[in-house]
Amino acid sequence: MSESREHRIGLLLGAEEDWPQAFEAVLRRVGPVVTSDGVTHTFTSERLSIEPFDLMAPVRSDLVIDRLAHWYYHPREWLKKAALVNGTYLLNSPFTFQSMEKHSAYCAMLRLGLNVPRTVLVPYKHPVDNVRWAYTAGKYNLPFDLPSIAADLGYPLYMKPFDGGGWRGVSRIENEAELQRAYDESGGMLMHLQATVPYESFARALSIGPETMVMDFRPDKPMHSRYAVSHDFLSPVAGSRTAAISRIVNAFFGWEFNSAEMLVQGDEVYPIDYANACPDVAVTSLHYYFPWAIRALVRWSVYALVTERKVKADLQTERYFAIADDPSLDMDAKLAAYLRLADEQFETERYWQWCDTHLPHLDQQVLEWVTSTDFDRLLKETVKANYQLTEQHAFLDHFHGLVDLWVIDESARLRE
Ligand SMILES: Nc1ncnc2c1ncn2[C@@H]1O[C@H](COP(=O)(O)OP(=O)(O)O)[C@@H](O)[C@H]1O
Ligand SMILES: [Mg+2]
Repeated sequence: MSESREHRIGLLLGAEEDWPQAFEAVLRRVGPVVTSDGVTHTFTSERLSIEPFDLMAPVRSDLVIDRLAHWYYHPREWLKKAALVNGTYLLNSPFTFQSMEKHSAYCAMLRLGLNVPRTVLVPYKHPVDNVRWAYTAGKYNLPFDLPSIAADLGYPLYMKPFDGGGWRGVSRIENEAELQRAYDESGGMLMHLQATVPYESFARALSIGPETMVMDFRPDKPMHSRYAVSHDFLSPVAGSRTAAISRIVNAFFGWEFNSAEMLVQGDEVYPIDYANACPDVAVTSLHYYFPWAIRALVRWSVYALVTERKVKADLQTERYFAIADDPSLDMDAKLAAYLRLADEQFETERYWQWCDTHLPHLDQQVLEWVTSTDFDRLLKETVKANYQLTEQHAFLDHFHGLVDLWVIDESARLRE
């Protein structure tokens, strides 16, 4: 009798219904994978519920995709226990995300020599809730000249929380009066002031393990048309820089499922937001790119499970800093060297070879699923849940049109 192994993927979810259903449907189509040692691997997924847990209790899932722990702390503590006690594989690990928010990412990317716009962190506007505050503040939290910091950065500038996400508390500030108002309103949030980058394109890169998609993002549009379907919106140099930076940031912090935002002007790339523990993968925003995202999520999860990929907790940042400090390397040579480290970490070459050998049917399966009535139903339900009755028809057409475009492109690609 040949050996068989069942791998369970746990989904820790917030309010989303669309991508989890897509993930479950595509995972069902992965089918058994037989490795060269004769072992037959099968895959199931389950939606995790929040329950009391004994710190020594076993964990049923071998891998968990987390979408909840960034705002709900009981499951976050459960994830930490699963990582430490049970060796569960996590996308993403709270150890990497809890202490490494936007601010840490700015610091790290500045240290690597990237074009992060000038950024200043200012103290809290409101007193913190602690009996020691009055004494400490009186003695050490000295008054500071906010307008002169802003003038030094130049107007317009951005004020935004050091650990931001989803535009919470972000404001664009044109003058001193707006500066004062925004700071007064910041209250208990800790704020960055950041120089504005004038940009031609806004690139949003979603990376899942070693797979990266750089997308043309329009932040001022409503959600359903923020991601434009355009393939050559960046110069070739900017295109490879954005893809590299997205993977380098992830590898540096040990993130495997993250989106990075970069402002692009000509060949220059300015990263501004790249610590998203729970990146947007909704069908109603990604549309054309949705099948790609789900396939990458399934493919990377399956790869990590079958190859028994180990979780790395230590970041070994000195390897990156050695490159940053090498005076013989210019920026592109540094990016190439960082990318080699990133690709080593994500096992990029081995990953694609492994997928060729063990998942050659997956592309076709995803294409079939996206053209199936099951996908149709999912899209209808999602549109129904997200839009007013009077708009549903138009939105369904809108998303169908975009996904159909993917189907045409993907069919052509598979025929090649
Ligand atoms: N330095 C900047 N220059 C130009 N635009 C910026 C800058 N910082 C932020 N923005 C604009 O503000 C938006 C929100 O800022 P971001 O840093 O992405 O915060 P969040 O984490 O809330 O998404 C960005 O999508 C961009 O449109
Ligand atoms: Mg952002």
